[in-house]
Amino acid sequence: MICIRSINALRLHIADEKRKSKAIGFVPTMGALHEGHISLIKQAKAENALCIASIFVNPLQFNNAEDFKKYPIQQEKDIQLMEQAGCDVLFIPSVEEFYPSPPKLSIDIGALDRILEGTHRPGHFSGVAIVVSKLFNVVSPDKAYFGQKDLQQVAVINQLVRELNFPIEIIACPIVREQNGLAMSSRNMRLSNAGKTVASNLFAALSLIKQSISKGERSTSTLVTVGGNYLNTFKEIEIEYLEVVNGDTLESITEIKGVSKVAVCIAAHIEGVRLIDNLVIIL
Ligand code: PAJ
Repeated sequence: MICIRSINALRLHIADEKRKSKAIGFVPTMGALHEGHISLIKQAKAENALCIASIFVNPLQFNNAEDFKKYPIQQEKDIQLMEQAGCDVLFIPSVEEFYPSPPKLSIDIGALDRILEGTHRPGHFSGVAIVVSKLFNVVSPDKAYFGQKDLQQVAVINQLVRELNFPIEIIACPIVREQNGLAMSSRNMRLSNAGKTVASNLFAALSLIKQSISKGERSTSTLVTVGGNYLNTFKEIEIEYLEVVNGDTLESITEIKGVSKVAVCIAAHIEGVRLIDNLVIIL
C-alpha cells in the first residue's frame, strides 16, 4: 500500500494506473477504523483492480464543534488496518490543502435535508456533499462504496451523483454489527463498556419494531411508541428521534401502506455520544 498526502501526487499516481486500464474502487472514510470500514475496503478490493481509500476528518460536516474536537484520531493504527484489509492507495489530505480557505460554496440537497439527520444536523449533508464531490473529482473512481449504517448519506450521495453526472457507480454495503447488535461506529470508542452494552438496546428496539410490523402493526406512531417505551426503560438512553419512514424515499409516513420497504431510523445520546442506527425492512 502506498500512502499519498497531496492532491497532485494522487492525481499523477491515478493517471498512471488509469493508463493500465485499472478499475478503481474508492472508499472515503474519516478514519478511526473498525470492521464496518474494513468490510467496505474488502468489497472494493474484491470488485476492482485497484482499491483507493481516504482518511479525512471533514470539518465542514460537523455541525457541533465539540463533536469535531472529540472525533477519535488514530492515524498510525489506521494505516496498518488499511494495509491489512488490502487497500492499495491510501489518500490522507491535509485540511490546509483541501480547504485553503473556508469554501464559499454550499450544496442544497433539497427535501432530503429536511428529514431525519438533515433536520437534526443543519449543514451536515452540505458538508458531506462538498467533501465527497471533491474526493470524487480527485480520485475519479469507477465505483464508490458507502455503508448503509448512514442510510440517508447513501441517498444524498446517490442524488449527488445523479444530478451532477458523476460517472461513478455507488455501492451501498450492509451494516456491520457487534455480536450484541450494536452497529459499529468510530464514536463507539468514546463509550465505556457499560455504555456499549446499553447502546446495543438501540438495535433491540429496532428489532422489536420489526417484530411488531411482521405481526401486522401498520401505524407508524404505534410502532414508534413500542420502540420508545422499550428504550425509555434505560435511563442512560436519550432518544433524539425514532421514526418509521418510507424505505425508498426516507419520507415520513403515518401508515405502512403502498410501500415496498420501510426504514426504522434512530438517533440517540448515550454518555454524551450521539449514535445513529437503522433497520430496513422489506415488506
Ligand atoms: P465514516 O463515518 O468514517 O464512514 C465511512 C464509511 O463507512 C461510510 O460509508 C459509512 O457508512 C461506513 N460505515 C460506518 N460504520 C459502518 C458499519 N457499522 N457498517 C458498514 N459500514 C459502515 O461517513 C463518513 O465517514 C463521512 O461522512 C464521509 C463519507 C467519509 C465523508 O466525509
